[in-house]
Amino acid sequence: MYISQLSLTNYRNYSRLTLDLPSGPVLLRGDNANGKTNLLEAIYFLSTTRSVHTRTDQQLINWIILRQETLPFARVEATVKTRSDTFKIAITVVREGNNFRKDIRFNGAKKRAMDIIGKLNTVMFLPEDIELVTGSPGIRRRYLDSTLCQINPDYCAALSRYNKVLTQRNALLKELFKRNGNPDQLFYWDEQLARDGAALMVNRHNTILDLDAVARQRHRELSGGREGLRLHYAPSFDLYRRPQPNYQLPLIMEELVPYSTAAPPLQEVRETFRSYLINARSEEISRGVTLVGPHRDDFHFLVDGIDMTMYGSRGQQRTAALSTKLAEVILMKQFTGETPVLLLDDVMSELDAKRREQVINIVDQAGQALLTTTDWEDFSLDFRQRARLFSVAMGRLELVQPD
Ligand SMILES: Nc1ncnc2c1ncn2[C@@H]1O[C@H](COP(=O)(O)OP(=O)(O)OP(=O)(O)O)[C@@H](O)[C@H]1O
Ligand SMILES: [Mg+2]
Repeated sequence: MYISQLSLTNYRNYSRLTLDLPSGPVLLRGDNANGKTNLLEAIYFLSTTRSVHTRTDQQLINWIILRQETLPFARVEATVKTRSDTFKIAITVVREGNNFRKDIRFNGAKKRAMDIIGKLNTVMFLPEDIELVTGSPGIRRRYLDSTLCQINPDYCAALSRYNKVLTQRNALLKELFKRNGNPDQLFYWDEQLARDGAALMVNRHNTILDLDAVARQRHRELSGGREGLRLHYAPSFDLYRRPQPNYQLPLIMEELVPYSTAAPPLQEVRETFRSYLINARSEEISRGVTLVGPHRDDFHFLVDGIDMTMYGSRGQQRTAALSTKLAEVILMKQFTGETPVLLLDDVMSELDAKRREQVINIVDQAGQALLTTTDWEDFSLDFRQRARLFSVAMGRLELVQPD
């Protein structure tokens, strides 16, 4: 799929922009602080209905407008072409008093966020995405959730139910501790939690397995055949009821081989989940929180058996994160039949010549790729002649001819 037209109104440093885009590569060059990242972020926002990482929606509204107008808003709108369809997605962030509200439209009709996630598929790589490897388990869970939600609406629905049940179950745990109540009340919530939780975990397990196969290949290409990357799911409890390996220590690859098979059947995982909940029950009541379940999951990046979060060099960590994101392109295509839009922000800056060449090879496989740079020279002349080029200055874009 590709975006054929993008328009932004009062979006960050863009007051008004209408942009026609081709399929294939699009390269944006601009000095620092001119709006390159903002533009990619706007597309990501349309795809996921969320601003990247922890940034909040209210920051998306141009701050001059936010101060001056009585009903300030920011709007992002795109026309998307797939192999069989053309559609329009628009999201408007509106301030009403002290609150911010999102109005989401698909071909003009009002929709819930859940209904449009997965319509426009994107894979985005930002410089700070190295945190996928270096950061906390929460960052990796968010990444998994956002990837899975784009390719599987059932996953998204299960996730939203799970989070609600989790909140209610935690409230009950606190109540039981305070009032010394009857713990049998938990059975109902355990059942609910295990039903959706098992679905999340089976999906995560199988998706990481798929990602692993492609990311391994990408990482090998990017590292010039020198390194072997493996992605390894570390569920909050063992789906097979086996002892957990200790990730604090460098791991030997062979120890992980048995995990390279599809997850056990859903029903079994549900039962296993429930038995772990029963085991944890007294500790859960005394601590007032649910201690097992997908909200405690993690996954690991292993290069030649070594956990990159703990022991990776900066370059290895960056390459592992990039390989995984690029693998997502293939995964999304397998699931949805459409190649996603690839958004690569400043991806070349820390890569050597060989790795840059590999990135271009992968970009050529995407339906559309938007790349940003501060320097045209980061890209070969051959690539620049194939790509649509824009220069970005102070929230305006100008078409540039290759030299
Ligand atoms: N809500 C907003 N209203 C107006 N301007 C904003 C808003 N949010 C961010 N900006 C500004 O937009 C400008 C462009 O930011 P952006 O991150 O897109 O730059 P960039 O071109 O990617 O720069 P770099 O090369 O440094 O990564 C920044 O100066 C930033 O302060
Ligand atoms: Mg930037």
